[in-house]
Amino acid sequence: MPLLHGHGRNDMYGLAQHPHHYERFAARLARPMYRRIVADVMALGLPDGATVVDVGTGPGIVPRMLAPLAPGLRVRGVDLSPEMVARATEAARKLALAAEFEVADVEHLPFADASLDLVVSSISLHHWARPEAGLHEVSRVLKPGAQAWIYDVRPVLRRVAGEHRLESPLPGTPWFNPIGRLILVGS
Ligand SMILES: C[S@@+](CC[C@H](N)C(=O)[O-])C[C@H]1O[C@@H](n2cnc3c(N)ncnc32)[C@H](O)[C@@H]1O
Repeated sequence: MPLLHGHGRNDMYGLAQHPHHYERFAARLARPMYRRIVADVMALGLPDGATVVDVGTGPGIVPRMLAPLAPGLRVRGVDLSPEMVARATEAARKLALAAEFEVADVEHLPFADASLDLVVSSISLHHWARPEAGLHEVSRVLKPGAQAWIYDVRPVLRRVAGEHRLESPLPGTPWFNPIGRLILVGS
C-alpha cells in the first residue's frame, strides 16, 4: 500500500497520466529540492562514464537539469508511468540531451546486479506500492559502496528507514524543511 494515500493506484490522483500539469505544479513547489539534488550529485564528483539513475523520475526534471552540467555521466531515468516517460524523453530530445528514460517499476529495475554508481529518487517512494521491496531492489543494482539517495517527506522516510542512514531534515536546511534523505549503500 502506498504510504501517503490508500487508492491502491500509483497514479498520483491522476497526475501520473498528465505530465504537463504535474511539471507545472512541481516546477513551482519542488524547484529548491531539484536544485539540491543536482548540487548533491555534482558534489559527489563521480568520474566520467559513471551511471546515475533517477527512479520514479516523473517528467525527468532532475535528469534534465543534471545532464548538461555533467556531460561525462550516463544519466538515466525510470518511471512506472508511460506518459511521464514519454514526456521526459520528448523534453530531453528537444534539448538535445543524452539522458535516457524507460518505463520500469522500482520493484523490477532493468539493471544488472551491482551495476550503478548512484541512484537518486525524489518524492516517489511515498507512491510505491511496497516501499521496502523497492528499497531492496534499489540496493540490488548499486555497485559495492555506491549510494542511493531517496529524497521524500520525512515522516514517510522515518517509517521505512530501518538500518539505513536518514538525514532529517537535509543537512544545512531548516528544521521545518519537510524533505529528508534516506541513504542506501551498496554491498
Ligand atoms: C510525485 S512524482 C515525482 C516525480 C519526480 N521524481 C519529481 O521529483 O518530480 C512520483 C513519481 O513516481 C512514479 N512512481 C510511482 N510508483 C512507482 C514505482 N513503483 N516505480 C517507479 N516509479 C513509480 C510515478 O509514476 C510518478 O511519476
